[in-house]
Amino acid sequence: MFTQIEITTACNAKCFYCPNGTLEHKHMSWECFERILQAEKSPTMLLLYGTGEPLLHPFFWEMVAHAKGKGHRVSTITNGTIALSATHSVLLDHIGFSLDTLDEALAKRSGRTSPSKALKHLLACHALAPKKIKIYALNYGQDLAPLKAFAQEHGIALAIQQIQPKKSYQVHYTTEPLPYTTFQCSYLENEKMRYYFVDGTKAPCCFMIDATKVLPTKQIQQHLAQKNNVPSCCTQCGELTGVKRLYM
Ligand SMILES: C[S@@+](CC[C@H](N)C(=O)[O-])C[C@H]1O[C@@H](n2cnc3c(N)ncnc32)[C@H](O)[C@@H]1O
Ligand code: SF4
Ligand code: SF4
Repeated sequence: MFTQIEITTACNAKCFYCPNGTLEHKHMSWECFERILQAEKSPTMLLLYGTGEPLLHPFFWEMVAHAKGKGHRVSTITNGTIALSATHSVLLDHIGFSLDTLDEALAKRSGRTSPSKALKHLLACHALAPKKIKIYALNYGQDLAPLKAFAQEHGIALAIQQIQPKKSYQVHYTTEPLPYTTFQCSYLENEKMRYYFVDGTKAPCCFMIDATKVLPTKQIQQHLAQKNNVPSCCTQCGELTGVKRLYM
């Protein structure tokens, strides 16, 4: 069980596969953040990022320190464009770096920023807090062998993520409309996470993107129980469709 807070939708990259390009760029207010922390009474694993670059939030480190002071463990994922100081590396419990390729030209074409810059920041963090670092690579069909070799050589954990085939993600790519393999969602069966959008709206998962389309959990379950009635907030979700295929 964990809590994820979309503290910002601002971003300095344009990854072709990310719905960030469809969002208005804005930061969560301190008041909203504080309200969420007050609602989250028991200490939890707090993920401070949503569809945006978390380190762009002007109060990011104040938010981390405040959450740590309340007993939460705090984790984030960054695109690696902004350096973390030694104090910062130690403050966070987990730091993910999104890096899909080491190839500068491919990264640029995909909309990501320079991998060499991200690597510089990642390795600096890794030297200070090796156990906290993980690389998150999105598999969109690129050759992952060089990245795997790099991670192995430096002893850095690597997670390969599958592309989300959900309709709301398919802004710059298309997937075959996949058949639904199930109408049960693990995020709804037991409370797995609480996701707070940048405006404070609460959702049962991090895949909904449009806060105005979030339905109450019970209502989504009722829709799914009718099998051919998947609500728009869940259409083509990877939870329901299984394996994903991407065409760039
Ligand atoms: C939305 S980003 C936010 C944090 C930060 N901006 C970054 O890129 O790490 C969080 C993670 O979502 C992943 N992501 C973005 N678009 C995705 C998609 N269509 N399917 C699956 N994961 C995606 C990114 O690769 C990244 O690892
Ligand atoms: S994946 Fe991260 S860096 Fe890329 S556009 Fe989305 S929020 Fe920005
Ligand atoms: S969007 Fe996907 S993960 Fe979220 S509730 Fe719907 S089916 Fe479940």
